[in-house]
Amino acid sequence: MLLVCALMRAILHLQIVVSFAERLTGFQLLSTGRSSRFRRLKEGFAFQGLPMIIAILNQKGGVGKTTLSVNLAAALALSGKRTLLVDADPQASALDWQAARKGESLFPVVGIAKPTLHKDIPGLAGGYEHVVIDGPPRANDLAKSAIMAADLIVVPVQPSPYDVWAAEEIIKLYQEASLFKEHLKAVFAINRKIGNTAIGRDVGAALKSYPFPLAVSFISQRVVFAESAASGLSVLEAEPKGPAAKEIRSLMQELLEF
Ligand SMILES: Nc1ncnc2c1ncn2[C@@H]1O[C@H](COP(=O)(O)OP(=O)(O)O)[C@@H](O)[C@H]1O
Ligand SMILES: [Mg+2]
Repeated sequence: MLLVCALMRAILHLQIVVSFAERLTGFQLLSTGRSSRFRRLKEGFAFQGLPMIIAILNQKGGVGKTTLSVNLAAALALSGKRTLLVDADPQASALDWQAARKGESLFPVVGIAKPTLHKDIPGLAGGYEHVVIDGPPRANDLAKSAIMAADLIVVPVQPSPYDVWAAEEIIKLYQEASLFKEHLKAVFAINRKIGNTAIGRDVGAALKSYPFPLAVSFISQRVVFAESAASGLSVLEAEPKGPAAKEIRSLMQELLEF
């Protein structure tokens, strides 16, 4: 009896701590899909039956969130993984990309541009191995909700220190969330690298002051990204053996092993 009372008190205390933390950060920690989310936090991606959720986020527009989202989702789907793409941008570019497509779709795209994303995804993601979230161009409640839903955050940046500094707000959201989401991971990914130029020392220095690393794989500036997007294709379909497809596959692999 004494043991049961002590246990109940411990649970009550845990709930108070969690709700206090939620209020403090504005993040809803365990309030949806509580048990499955808790298991995921404990066991990482290894837990069978739960998808790995990758959110592509940066509050700056034009950095390549949608480009990376559709191409990474395509790379996952083409490698045989059941993949869902969630368009969390009110501008709905990923949905437009899918609509421009003539042939069969590689993966479904659903639009959820609402801060209930983290509550909605568990209900939609059953049966998928991977969910990619194309994030909004703001560090708002919608972005918070995407962070809540995610296991891994990818922050695309162009190879300029200005672009790295511009990611500050999303990094702050990540830091707040990671205080309570122990297993939340994040990585920068360079997009639009020009030719053979090295990533500048100034970019490296700007990145060093941030709490997560830069992916080794990078994506170069290539017209095939824009050209393929115009017809709702990924670069892996437009030029399967091309360098853009190779870079996307390499980034996908790195993210899966991250
Ligand atoms: N690696 C790249 N090479 C060439 N064009 C790119 C590349 N990445 C993105 N773009 C182009 O840059 C523009 C903005 O990219 P987008 O993915 O829409 O950014 P975001 O979703 O962050 O606003 C688009 O026209 C896209 O085709
Ligand atoms: Mg976009």
